[in-house]
Amino acid sequence: MQILVFLSLLLVYPADFLYLWEPRTLQCLSKDCKLSKNADQTGLVPANCSFSGKSGNPEIECDIECDGAERDSVISKKPTDYRYCNRFFTYNTRKTSDGKWTIWRNGTCAIANITMTVHCAFPL
Ligand SMILES: *[C@@H]1O[C@H](CO)[C@@H](O)[C@H](O)[C@H]1NC(C)=O
Ligand SMILES: *[C@@H]1O[C@H](CO)[C@@H](O)[C@H](O)[C@H]1NC(C)=O
Ligand SMILES: *[C@@H]1O[C@H](CO)[C@@H](O)[C@H](O)[C@H]1NC(C)=O
Repeated sequence: MQILVFLSLLLVYPADFLYLWEPRTLQCLSKDCKLSKNADQTGLVPANCSFSGKSGNPEIECDIECDGAERDSVISKKPTDYRYCNRFFTYNTRKTSDGKWTIWRNGTCAIANITMTVHCAFPL
């Protein structure tokens, strides 16, 4: 039975089996962000973030340490209903030209207390 499920998943989502998916959680109290690479969100260490923008329109971008990943997943956030954080408009992931992955936030989301979890797909 498990083999059947696996085989049918392989037919439906062949590309997903070529990757190792690793979790990343960025926990931010305003501009102070910590990063965890564990599924249970333990082992938080200070994230490497850079700041730009003006005081009225701050921007913060933090390395999520997914160097070399090819894809990323849906981002989940906590609290889920914080209205100032909208993917694409005030936060998202970004792959930099040197192959690093970041999560950026701007506007009111840049100073929000928010936790975001994403998965990075590393080629096997
Ligand atoms: C933090 O990010 C900056 C800018 O990308 C980089 O130059 C620096 O090496 C990074 N530091 C660490 C500890 O990763
Ligand atoms: C935040 O960045 C996005 C993408 O660059 C942009 O569309 C949006 O206008 C920015 N929002 C603010 C408040 O600066
Ligand atoms: C974020 O959390 C800190 C500490 O708990 C609190 O003082 C601050 O008011 C919170 N900020 C927002 C925007 O909720």
